[in-house]
Amino acid sequence: MSWQDVYQSKLTTAKDAVKHIESGNRVVVGHACSEPLALVDAMVANKDQYKDVEIVHMVAMGKSEYAKPEMAPHFRHNALFVGGTTRKAVNEARADYTPCFFTEIPRLFKEEYLPVDVALIQVSRPDEHGYCSFGLSSDYTKPASECAKIVIAEVNDQMPRTMGSFIHISEIDHIVETSYPIIELQPPKIGEIEKAIGENCAKLVEDGATLQLGIGAIPDAVLLFLKDKKDLGIHSEMFSDGVVELVEAGVINNKKKTLHEGKMIVTFLMGTKRLYDFVHNNPTVELHPVDYVNNPCVVMQNENIISINSCIQVDLMGQIVSESIGLKQFSGVGGQVDYIRGASMAKRGKSIIAIPSTASKGKVSRIAPFIDEGSAVTTSRNDVHYVVTEYGIAQLRGKSLKERGRALINIAHPDFRPMLIEEWERRFDTKFE
Ligand code: COA
Repeated sequence: MSWQDVYQSKLTTAKDAVKHIESGNRVVVGHACSEPLALVDAMVANKDQYKDVEIVHMVAMGKSEYAKPEMAPHFRHNALFVGGTTRKAVNEARADYTPCFFTEIPRLFKEEYLPVDVALIQVSRPDEHGYCSFGLSSDYTKPASECAKIVIAEVNDQMPRTMGSFIHISEIDHIVETSYPIIELQPPKIGEIEKAIGENCAKLVEDGATLQLGIGAIPDAVLLFLKDKKDLGIHSEMFSDGVVELVEAGVINNKKKTLHEGKMIVTFLMGTKRLYDFVHNNPTVELHPVDYVNNPCVVMQNENIISINSCIQVDLMGQIVSESIGLKQFSGVGGQVDYIRGASMAKRGKSIIAIPSTASKGKVSRIAPFIDEGSAVTTSRNDVHYVVTEYGIAQLRGKSLKERGRALINIAHPDFRPMLIEEWERRFDTKFE
């Protein structure tokens, strides 16, 4: 039988496909902008057929209706990252959060800490050999598909065909053809504070560096200040539209990369149609599973790699809280520690935590004497390297507790420095100079 015949034999509707999910199953949903929206909608519509179906997902960009209170008898959400559509459910204890480094999520599936019953995924149309690209998400989506007892795939003719991660038609159990625009993430607004932070971070980026950037206004602001740099490369969890401009300007050319020279390596992508057109059939962009891309032992092979991430709070010892505000789970660890570890092990590597000096419209200092009660430390004080705000750069590696406290106070918002100095002087029984 040709792969085309196999494909035809597996075609079904979303409504029928989700009937293969059974009560008590664990269902892993394709990640971020690759979320298979038609399958998720059909699964929610079919809720009366299910009891206690566990939905495992990370950055949820769809409606997350399975996390609504009225869905409780049918679904329970197990979040590997918490976002706008799932935060309320997690913090009201109607959904769970499972802490795990992004690079280790595939192990949860492969080593059966979380055995996968069903993977709901979205892929590109098959090529002439019958291979569909994982499009915008290889990360845990590909490993989950390899472990699942049943793979149900939306084949969306608008999903870009990216390089690196493919699934053959023979490995999919049920196929649903769809055609709708892929979820987009609009570029964030970049204000004056983000610009000042971006400019400070850019001072640490040397020509020939390889970059890892997170999501949001600060990473995008950094890119604005890299236009005069040369020969930059990308090895990152993800990238967004901002990178495309620097590639087109010849600033990012990946020529000096010491691993995957000439290629941008990522595990997922989020952006607008502009990004999706750029990565479609682009041989210089490769997506691979997150247990490879984010593995610190892989990251460290990129000499001169510089990772840029953000946080919620940092105390005077350099402990970084990035995912919770007190007991409230705000987001997740994501790839932050994967890259901080990888960059610190790499030759000439640097890791940056870049933050506005205050939060809550200037009412709270993000640099605090102590972390809030209930907060989780995301990056330990042993791993922290640079902290950057709009007021400057604090280099903490190799610095004593006393020295790092002083360096952090010097980049705090001036309104909060007296309070921080008082705490520093009390702790070290020394006059602050
Ligand atoms: N005390 C009280 N509230 C705080 C706070 C603090 N110290 N720090 C932040 N907040 C509030 C903000 O005021 C804001 O509330 P609002 O939306 O009501 O204004 C909210 O928390 C979010 O803060 P903000 O810093 O604007 O969020 P962000 O969207 O820029 O995301 C992180 C910042 C740290 C949450 C995000 O980078 C993250 O999740 N990091 C961990 C994962 C990671 O690094 N992945 C790496 C690769 S993608």
